[in-house]
Amino acid sequence: MNSIKVGLLGIGTVGGGTFQVLRRNQEDIRGRAGRGIEITMVADLDVERARSIVGDACTVVSDARQVIANPDIDIVVELIGGYGVARSLVLEAIAAGKHVVTANKALLAVHGSEIFAAAREKGVMVAFEAAVAGGIPIIKALREGLTANRIEWIAGIINGTTNFILSEMRGKGLDFATVLKEAQRLGYAEADPTFDIEGVDAAHKATIMSAIAFGIPVQFDRAHVEGITQLQAADIKYAEQLGYRIKLLGIARRRQDVGGIELRVHPTLIPANRLIANVEGAMNAVLVQADAVGTTLYYGKGAGAEPTASAVIADLVDITRLATADPDHRVPHLAFQPEAMNNTPILPM
Ligand code: HSE
Repeated sequence: MNSIKVGLLGIGTVGGGTFQVLRRNQEDIRGRAGRGIEITMVADLDVERARSIVGDACTVVSDARQVIANPDIDIVVELIGGYGVARSLVLEAIAAGKHVVTANKALLAVHGSEIFAAAREKGVMVAFEAAVAGGIPIIKALREGLTANRIEWIAGIINGTTNFILSEMRGKGLDFATVLKEAQRLGYAEADPTFDIEGVDAAHKATIMSAIAFGIPVQFDRAHVEGITQLQAADIKYAEQLGYRIKLLGIARRRQDVGGIELRVHPTLIPANRLIANVEGAMNAVLVQADAVGTTLYYGKGAGAEPTASAVIADLVDITRLATADPDHRVPHLAFQPEAMNNTPILPM
């Protein structure tokens, strides 16, 4: 069978990682997907840089719409980020009958319902493993691995930048501004680091997880969001003296007693002997409490070129396997199913 053809929109850190990993492991990936997966077209405003990454292996253009309009492209991978242009391009790709893979947590947390409804209508798939916790397969775990369970709560360190800052402030006694600069230099932080330090990035990710875990629409505007900018070195020191660590947690919790869901991001005191309190640096970790399996913990790199590429390629493999299945019988469904959603409210905090 012919290879499935992929077009990348944006080839920065994650796009470059995706290109490398796909090339390095192509024979194994072909075997697992049942067909080859080939990036044949890349759109990036910086054509020279894109060309230096992909060489002559594929067509490089500056206009993303050329990728979407190409009838040979089966899957569009959106790695542009942000809400505006990315939303238009993803909706246009869906309208053109392309499957979509995106790492864009902001886009899905805010416009996910619109995007998933459009995909459902058109009979294409939207996959987004890379949008939450980078290389940790947490979306797959929530959607498939834990499918037998009633999920009670999720609590995660899902922003590497803030965890790096808190770790360095505690371990090395450095001040906030110095460590933030270092996080930017290391490439952990978003283009606009206020999304990291104000808890917005973590809230995007918690919103997406809450939708999968509880079968509710994505509702970022209902999340309580508090970042780490008000924390001082003294808070971290006193917490340590009392036997606690401070972590920025994203929490989504079912409240059976009041019939609603808590969705919140805020700095949290955690006893220092807990596993999750010892997740240091830019690492991510997600705890999930579910009725049958009990507590499970997922740990790994939440950002970076190849960890995020690992998640993007897992989505490409899933879509390749499922592309020939009847749209109504694609198991698991990669997009949310609007008709199967419940309206359990997110509680005001
Ligand atoms: N800025 C994000 C973080 C990148 O620090 O976790 C990965 O989503």
